[in-house]
Amino acid sequence: MTTAPSTFRVPLPDTLVDLLGKRVIDLPAPELELGLLREDVRAAYDRVRAQSPEAQVVVRRCRDLLNDPDGDGFAVLEVGPLLDHYGLDEGQKAATILLSWLGRPLRAFDKWPLWKPLGTNLTIDPMRATGSGYNPLHIDVVNATEPPDYSALLCVRPDPRGEGYSLVSQLRRAVDRLSESERAFLAEEAYHDGAFYDLTGVGKEYDPFPVLDGLSASEGFVRFTAKMLPDMDLHDPHTSAVRALERELIAEQKKFLLGFGDLIVVNQHLCVHGREPLGGGQEEVPEERRRLLWQMFLRAAKADA
Ligand SMILES: [Fe+2]
Repeated sequence: MTTAPSTFRVPLPDTLVDLLGKRVIDLPAPELELGLLREDVRAAYDRVRAQSPEAQVVVRRCRDLLNDPDGDGFAVLEVGPLLDHYGLDEGQKAATILLSWLGRPLRAFDKWPLWKPLGTNLTIDPMRATGSGYNPLHIDVVNATEPPDYSALLCVRPDPRGEGYSLVSQLRRAVDRLSESERAFLAEEAYHDGAFYDLTGVGKEYDPFPVLDGLSASEGFVRFTAKMLPDMDLHDPHTSAVRALERELIAEQKKFLLGFGDLIVVNQHLCVHGREPLGGGQEEVPEERRRLLWQMFLRAAKADA
């Protein structure tokens, strides 16, 4: 299996693709206020959903996949037809409209546009989102008091070398498989992860943070990132507890390729994500042909947070 299993895929009915194509030009641009989609813009986008039974079916299916506490906490929307039919600019706006039906679009990074381009840079740390190596399992903006509720990645250009598999794993089930003493260490405010600056809409810096905050999956987070492991003391039991959690996450992880137009949405309260290395010989691939994803976040509406 190379693409995501069909259980997790959400195709768009042709009628919905047509409707979005007709409406996208006249709908307002996705203007932001304090890093979030402006309320009047969100309301205009939502009127399209309210008028379309097909849109409501798609939204219900996504919400079931994303928010069922016993589910896997992710969905892959097939938005390729939006990009194919309407081009990258209008197609991106149509994808924004679609995502705004699942949560409120959130930019988080002040220095980037709402959709942050994640190209492939061979000169930076390979484990970073725009690197070419193994990007270990993590949630995004882990060291914030309010990490984004959902993280979305739209594949605009897959790795021409055919690799860079996406990884996802269900956090809550992995935590349940740990010992009580491991969970006790993870509940201590003893963990650090990198810098925190130029961010809006994600609360304050949380440093040190606990991996387990003791809250339910609808409110709290499992603040896990394997990227903090290389800087941790091997002899500290807090480190062993994180390693145990990583082992459980890897043991049950799902692995698949995102194709052109695949939009993966991950509920960060339930699910971590990562990426396997891109294929070899990236140096011979011109930069404008290397893998390109667009990233955006969503803030859950209060009722379904
Ligand atoms: Fe990420």
